[in-house]
Amino acid sequence: MPLIALLPGDGIGPEVIAEAVRVLDAAGCALDFQQAAVGGAAYRESGHPLPETTLDLARRADAILFGAVGDPACDTLERRLRPEQAILGLRRELALFANLRPAKLFAELADASALRPEVAAEIDLVIVRELNGDVYFGEKGMRTTPAGRRQGYDVMAYDEDEVARIARVGFETAMARGRTLCSVDKANVLETSQLWRDVVTEIASEYPQVALSHMYVDNAAMQLVRNPGQFDVIVTGNLFGDILSDQASMCAGSIGMLPSASLDSAGKGLYEPIHGSAPDIAGQGKANPLATILSAAMMLRYSLGRAEEADRIEAAVAAALAGGARTPDLGGTLSTSQMGDAVIEALA
Ligand code: IPM
Ligand code: MG
Repeated sequence: MPLIALLPGDGIGPEVIAEAVRVLDAAGCALDFQQAAVGGAAYRESGHPLPETTLDLARRADAILFGAVGDPACDTLERRLRPEQAILGLRRELALFANLRPAKLFAELADASALRPEVAAEIDLVIVRELNGDVYFGEKGMRTTPAGRRQGYDVMAYDEDEVARIARVGFETAMARGRTLCSVDKANVLETSQLWRDVVTEIASEYPQVALSHMYVDNAAMQLVRNPGQFDVIVTGNLFGDILSDQASMCAGSIGMLPSASLDSAGKGLYEPIHGSAPDIAGQGKANPLATILSAAMMLRYSLGRAEEADRIEAAVAAALAGGARTPDLGGTLSTSQMGDAVIEALA
């Protein structure tokens, strides 16, 4: 039986993970779940957001199902002890460099999108976000300027091998879809982005069937709301991908809907909703569990080779939505577990 590391984390993480596990069980997926603490929850238990035992479980597991980390009560800790370091540490330690964030509008949710329904209806894209480099992992710190003023700094850097490997994931993803790839950068200002653009262009020669275009990130942000239907696959760096994927989620109805997969070069993956821990609604049963349920479906598809079970769960989510199931973020009144129930009923 495949070993699944369950890392619920903080805020709404435990609530949404619980629903994903219920759905996986109801779908008859025989999986061996082992749970471990992560984020602020782990810090409170053991003094570190990513304890060695948690990292060890993640290493041993066939796949990782992750909730969310982030806790305002931890925001004053020194950075290495903050909850966010847990997810950043997992991405780094397990070399999960390729983050796939699909954004597709469920037809039933056109009214929940921040865009006009006819514009929103066109959204069907995947953001391929680099996850191991960029300003996230460059040298950073606080220092004093010669004038005695405090200065924070974070170095943005990519080397050509890092760009080449994520570019290939972008091209491969495009090959499996509409064969159109848009690389997003800020090459008009940043050297990091100039190298990015040069390397993506070089790799393009390996994929003559894919139509490659380049777009500056500010324009991409604008185009995502103006005409999201123009995008098939977007490949971009860590920081730009973080921002654009939140934006894409709202175009597709709700941030409570978007799943993600973070993969290493062998296809091992960590699966998580792209929303955060949402401390403002934690413990109230208001969270939408669908992004996590859809992340579990991605896990079945990408890491466990069980495409049929993934299809069934995705179809059950669509059927639940078609039947009118809505959590508050989608304009409805269902609780987190009632939404889980709706998906489980649709599976039957
Ligand atoms: C995400 C989150 C994380 C990120 C945070 C929690 C560190 O926003 O997965 O998009 O910035 O990558
Ligand atoms: Mg984010």
